[in-house]
Amino acid sequence: MTATADEYIATRSDVRDYLERALADQTTSEASEALLYDRVKSKLESSGAVLVAHYYVDPLLQQLAEETGGVVADSLEMARFGARTEAKRLIVAGVSFMGETAKILSPEKQVYMPTLDATCSLDLGCPDTAFSDFCDAHPDHTVVVYANTSAAVKARADWVVTSSIAVDVVDQLDREGARILWAPDKYLGRYVQQQTGADMVLWDAACVVHEEFRMHDLQALQAQYPEAGLLVHPESPAEMIECADAVGSTSQLIEAAVSLPHPAFIVATDKGIFYKMQQRVPEKQLIEAPTRGAGGSCQSCAHCPWMAMNRLSRLDQLLTDWDARCEVRVDPALADKALIPLNRMLEFNRARVR
Ligand code: 13P
Ligand code: SF4
Repeated sequence: MTATADEYIATRSDVRDYLERALADQTTSEASEALLYDRVKSKLESSGAVLVAHYYVDPLLQQLAEETGGVVADSLEMARFGARTEAKRLIVAGVSFMGETAKILSPEKQVYMPTLDATCSLDLGCPDTAFSDFCDAHPDHTVVVYANTSAAVKARADWVVTSSIAVDVVDQLDREGARILWAPDKYLGRYVQQQTGADMVLWDAACVVHEEFRMHDLQALQAQYPEAGLLVHPESPAEMIECADAVGSTSQLIEAAVSLPHPAFIVATDKGIFYKMQQRVPEKQLIEAPTRGAGGSCQSCAHCPWMAMNRLSRLDQLLTDWDARCEVRVDPALADKALIPLNRMLEFNRARVR
């Protein structure tokens, strides 16, 4: 007869000792994490700074933002919140375009990030000089860029949009007869084109996280959870979008989880979103959409490597030394130009919700 794992461990003092040590380490690290959390929280509260966090960052940072009068939001709401808060210092827990957007909208504020190394594959995939050449090659097009771009790319644009507003903006431009140059996300661009019927030329870049969601493995998961709805961020490939019960920005996906009747959801976006989504639907089961095939390797495994750089320990360091290397700075000449399409987006949003 084969011994159970517990029986086996009971007879092996070396294994038992090892497990006890590992458990003690784990308890210590949980306890020290709780201590670190409390320390960061009190430093943040006494600093006068406000934490603006994206749904994809470490849940501890999301919790901290909520508990200290900051915000956890999608990229549009992060921009809106940063611009309207009275705090003179913002800490943006997200990726560099989010910090830059906050600085452009509020040049008088000091904007910091736990690290300025946190970039985005869409931003990297759209260098400003090549983008400028692309614009020059399409002079009769209205230039619409996704917020996930550098200040220099925004400075060349007529409109900036986020995923929560892209379809509405392009729809209006299409009604006005505009031809659209879209950059950089080709999947989101294709989705917007398909939703609006607009005449669009697309830049060719993708998000390393969302591009990895695959239909083939999704079907196997759907067979296992036939009652589950499918929530898809529009940076995902078209085959995923076509099968979705809801497509939208991070905040729109959270709202869809609340409003749709399904008891469970397969969620095709960064797994950081599970923290807030599960809070909103504690009774529903949330399942990660598969990336790159069962047993296959993936680059990101549904978690953005740059969002993951926003760690509690880095925030602790920032709140201690306010290192100038963590302060977001944008060339004022570029910022002035980028502000115009950013303000157009915010004004469009105001008119939309009025
Ligand atoms: P949202 O605007 O939906 O928050 O998306 C930002 C992002 O980077 C998605 O990958
Ligand atoms: Fe960029 Fe994708 Fe990361 Fe969003 S999830 S910040 S689009 S790399």
